[in-house]
Amino acid sequence: MTELLSLALFERGSRSLVVKRKDGHAPFAGAWLLPTAVVGSEESAEEALERHTYRELGVEAGGLEFAETLYLEDNEDNIALSTRYVANIFRVLDHEGELRFRADGDYDDARWLTGDELAGVGLAPALLEWLQTGRHQAPAVAPVPAPSGGATPDNRRGWNAISRAYQEQYEIPTDRLVYAPRCPDESELQLLGDVAGLRVIVVGCGGGQDCIVLAKQGARVIGIDLSDKQIEYGRRLAEREGVDVTLQQGNVEQLVGIEDESQDLAVSLHALNYVERVDRAFAEAYRVLRGGSPFVFSVQHPFFAATEGGAPYSVVHPYWSRKQDWQWDFPEKGVSARLRSWYRTVGEWCSLLLDAGFRIERLLEPPPVEGGGASPWDGGYAIEKMRLIPATLIVKAVKP
Ligand SMILES: C[S@@+](CC[C@H](N)C(=O)[O-])C[C@H]1O[C@@H](n2cnc3c(N)ncnc32)[C@H](O)[C@@H]1O
Repeated sequence: MTELLSLALFERGSRSLVVKRKDGHAPFAGAWLLPTAVVGSEESAEEALERHTYRELGVEAGGLEFAETLYLEDNEDNIALSTRYVANIFRVLDHEGELRFRADGDYDDARWLTGDELAGVGLAPALLEWLQTGRHQAPAVAPVPAPSGGATPDNRRGWNAISRAYQEQYEIPTDRLVYAPRCPDESELQLLGDVAGLRVIVVGCGGGQDCIVLAKQGARVIGIDLSDKQIEYGRRLAEREGVDVTLQQGNVEQLVGIEDESQDLAVSLHALNYVERVDRAFAEAYRVLRGGSPFVFSVQHPFFAATEGGAPYSVVHPYWSRKQDWQWDFPEKGVSARLRSWYRTVGEWCSLLLDAGFRIERLLEPPPVEGGGASPWDGGYAIEKMRLIPATLIVKAVKP
């Protein structure tokens, strides 16, 4: 797959600003590069760079002049394992603010280097050559445009890439049903009732923990997940726990091989935000449930998804915006992936369910569970933020 990057060329006399990406911060994790933005699907190359230089280097880049397009590989030693990038370089003609880099950002070092010094830090060869010899030549006419609107994250590939790190970091329990980080669990919410003897389908089952919990309570469980690695992990986990569950790779927009009205309960815990056609997923859940059966799911609350950063938590994404592309980094594990999330307003979640034929029985927006000390959920799920707005939306719907 080819991804589109925008690179910023800041110059001081014969020196250029180069930055070192942190380990685990793709693209070019651990390598020296010009400040580099991955171009999102709904922004231009210049917008991506303005966003990135403001966020990572604290400056408002004015006057961006297109300089060159290069093709860069992030693993020159093994092209088969490498990702190919189309890199549009822009000269930053002026900027407002003092250059600095964020301690919790993408970079852990920055230097102003001459052409000769650049050779010592191990830049990608095509970039080094251009910085040393080509940068004062006449530029190409225009940047290479994003293919059909930008580099689209592939969630199957992304979840495959992070599955192992995710499972190691979050240690999701197999003895209680977790709706979301710091969210009251099923023992408190009591939405499913007694599952013993029920046929249950878990849509977006991740590493199988939810399936295992339900199977331990006597349910006959099928779990479906998009990620092959998550499914592999779940199968190993179920075997280790001595629990019999059926886990299969698939997209919940089409529940292949699951018969109509064959299930007594459908459950989905924090997975439907990754699904583009939720209308199809709801139609499929409706199809496979027998009449009178519940469908219980949790998703990230759209208020929470609209805000970012630390206190006082700015609203950065319009409440009604559907799509967010983002990067999930596991720096200690040297792993990261770009993922695409799909958000819906509370009203839309309800309308989609009603359109699919469901009746809505409960709609919960629980405050966070306090206590528990330091948590692996800190950061994105900071308790201070969760005390202000709901992080999770939980819905119990029923097929009439
Ligand atoms: C945050 S996990 C949720 C699973 C589990 N409850 C947990 O907390 O780990 C999200 C899961 O949704 C899966 N997923 C994303 N899109 C999907 C789709 N269209 N169909 C099936 N699974 C999907 C991902 O592969 C991932 O395993």
